[in-house]
Amino acid sequence: MEEKFKQTFYVTTPIYYVNDVPHIGHAYTTIIADALARYQRLCGKKVYFLTGTDEHGQKIEKAASEKGLRPKELADRVVVRFKELWQKLNISYDYFIRTTEEFHEKGVQKIFKMLLDKGDIYKGTYQGWYCVSEENFLSEDVPLEPGGHKICPDCGRKAMLLEEESYFFRLSAYQQPLLDFYAANPRFVRPQSRMNEVVSFVRQGLKDLSITRTTVRWGIPVPGDPRHTIYVWFDALHNYVTGAGYDWNPELFRIFWPADVHLIGKDILRFHAIFWPAFLMAAGFPLPGTVYGHGWWLKDETKMSKSRGNVLDPYLILEKVGPDALRYFLLREVPVGLDGSFSHEGFVQRINSDLANDLGNLVQRILTMVFNYFGGEIQEPGEETEADRQLARMFEETAKRVYSHYDDYALNRALEEIWVFLNITNKYLADQEPWKIARKPEARGRLARVLYQALCAIRGSSYLIYPVMPETAERIWGFIGEKRRPGQVPKNDLNFYDLSAGTRTSKPEALFPRIDLQEFIGEVEKPKAALENASGQELKMEYITYEDFKKMDLRVVRVLAAERVPGTNKLLKLQIDLGTEKRQIVAGVAETYSPEELVGKEFIVIANLQPAVIRGVESQGMLLAAEVEGKAIIPFFDRELPPGTRVK
Ligand code: ME8
Ligand code: MG
Repeated sequence: MEEKFKQTFYVTTPIYYVNDVPHIGHAYTTIIADALARYQRLCGKKVYFLTGTDEHGQKIEKAASEKGLRPKELADRVVVRFKELWQKLNISYDYFIRTTEEFHEKGVQKIFKMLLDKGDIYKGTYQGWYCVSEENFLSEDVPLEPGGHKICPDCGRKAMLLEEESYFFRLSAYQQPLLDFYAANPRFVRPQSRMNEVVSFVRQGLKDLSITRTTVRWGIPVPGDPRHTIYVWFDALHNYVTGAGYDWNPELFRIFWPADVHLIGKDILRFHAIFWPAFLMAAGFPLPGTVYGHGWWLKDETKMSKSRGNVLDPYLILEKVGPDALRYFLLREVPVGLDGSFSHEGFVQRINSDLANDLGNLVQRILTMVFNYFGGEIQEPGEETEADRQLARMFEETAKRVYSHYDDYALNRALEEIWVFLNITNKYLADQEPWKIARKPEARGRLARVLYQALCAIRGSSYLIYPVMPETAERIWGFIGEKRRPGQVPKNDLNFYDLSAGTRTSKPEALFPRIDLQEFIGEVEKPKAALENASGQELKMEYITYEDFKKMDLRVVRVLAAERVPGTNKLLKLQIDLGTEKRQIVAGVAETYSPEELVGKEFIVIANLQPAVIRGVESQGMLLAAEVEGKAIIPFFDRELPPGTRVK
């Protein structure tokens, strides 16, 4: 009941990990959320749409170190990529939350402290297996492999064994409250099949959940016990409350919490459908309306090539077809709950038939006729016939069904209904044959009426497609001289007949040019590296092969003599023993080591580096050192070695 009169709408996406740049899957969830947000704004509701990034934890720590970056540096770079993609896709989010923001960290600590004081969090020891990729503790019944380790059932990667002091969340105490909650709110998890999955999982029993780590540094410190950092999922899930004002904007929080819908992929269903409501119950917050777990986009395997990486790169597709074609395809192709398989053929076929043909041609034909017959001005229409009234009725019925599909998150069905109506409009024109009426000077009133009906049909449809294709709707409004905008036309006021005679229309350009499949494949399958170089934002390691590595002749050397290079602060001239020969090298280590302390020391030199003259002194090799705040630190060995020993 209350739902019906609710004037606000709060929708979220997952906050995405910053271990890598976004792909089609991330775009998918965010596009669904955007369509729902736009639909609700169209209905006149006050909307809050939250998305963002999940930046702490071991997965990010690891990804950063592999790329030679600090975690925050990696996050800063990847966030730029996410925001850029959302802008290209016209994602109308209200706030982009980053879990490294101070208000979020404080909010999470506050909730942690509250649950600790209350006894829902307690200290113990965790012993078990952990998957870094999924940031997930494995259930005990996952069997040991012959090698003595466990494999993560979700991602197939090797898990690690943990034994450490840990704080636990008393999840076991929430088993019954959760089951009661699911029973009272059968639509809490959607689609229905996923609800069944969740209920049967919880019925099997819930164990307390380890929610801190002592071996992960990149996380929010536990208040009062900073040896521990907070488990990344406890941290991340709370973005939905901190991002809506908890602990920093009480007014925002009061207006929008609880969320109406958390959109997620089915991969993270248990975190959202079990942990999250349990955390909220413990903290005493109201629970969200729905957790919607959508399906996955699978890669078209026959088209994939490992060296290319992910061919479903949203940037390349967007460059070629623009945001609305991609938004339409992803939402139209599969029902929200099911998996979809992306193929270039399917994509091009759908764009050409539904967008270039059904929608684009229809709009263009109608506007061309208004232009040719009436100089681009909407005329006072002649009397209505039954066929005209029928078209208006069809629209009104379509609109009702479309709204109820949008209300039900059934976006593909909403689009199907709109396309049925576009084809009805096409049929109306084919039946009325305005091009024939145009030849009879005495039938101007009838001609005006037929074109008026057709214009009303595309105007009405433009509002219905707006949530999914905002740019296309705007373009149609531009063509037909529509001055109003979403929010000014609440859904109940969307009348079919709402165009005034005298309004000027423009001659349209093609809304969606036809795409040539071969050309499209050629353009979107460019190797990934080329894209990253082109956009100047290299995020990946550039891999070398073992063959490349083997070309380096790395050797243990012993220092025979050392002196400063005159006139420099940093450089030492070293005479070294390479086992088979003596050499001289110049090394930038004088700020860290004195010449005396290096004599007799052993370290690694790359011996086959092309000789160079540095400050007038010849250097026949280079020593390896770490650089920390401008100072070189040499890795020494823990025992004495014969000079010339190979390092590999
Ligand atoms: O799980 N098909 O982040 P994540 C459809 N940080 N959707 C896909 C997809 C695919 N192939 N691949 C990814 C995390 N997604 C956590 C979330 S929330 C408090 C923390 C979408 O970067 C889908 O929404 O791994 C999925 O749930 C999400 O990206 C996972 O993003
Ligand atoms: Mg993931």
